[in-house]
Amino acid sequence: MDIKNNIQYDHEKIKKYIFDIEALGRSDSALRKPLFNVLRNELLIVQKAEEATLYDALEARQRDGKLVDKLETENETIRSLLKAIKKSEPNSDEWHDNFVKLKHHVINHFDKEERKLLPKAEKALPTEEVAQSFDDKKRALWNTKTMVEEVSACEDFSKTVRQAA
Ligand SMILES: [Fe+2]
Repeated sequence: MDIKNNIQYDHEKIKKYIFDIEALGRSDSALRKPLFNVLRNELLIVQKAEEATLYDALEARQRDGKLVDKLETENETIRSLLKAIKKSEPNSDEWHDNFVKLKHHVINHFDKEERKLLPKAEKALPTEEVAQSFDDKKRALWNTKTMVEEVSACEDFSKTVRQAA
């Protein structure tokens, strides 16, 4: 087990959902909403698990603090786009415009992680251990029925705190 392979596998899976939704085009398909919900769950869980294991482990070792900060900010952008899409009417212009933005941000973010973060993580961290805790964290999140709502609530909360600061 290796953190690089695990994360790349999840990235490929998520990209496939994005391309599947994109392939629906503007056709008013009943598949759009359920596919988007699957994509949203996968993305939120992978992000949360990465933050709790990989990012935290790198920060704890004071490695690549700037890169991790940047990736965390990108995760926030991705979360707010997911939220905007969820709120908007499926097949509205707003939905499609935000989906195009989401695709762009997710692909850039994954690319940055794969090119910059993962090679460094492989050198600096016990990758098997991190891979194990990444998997455990994901499993725990999937087992929490209200996980996605909790992640969204946490996000709202931290945003409110930041704005108040
Ligand atoms: Fe990520």
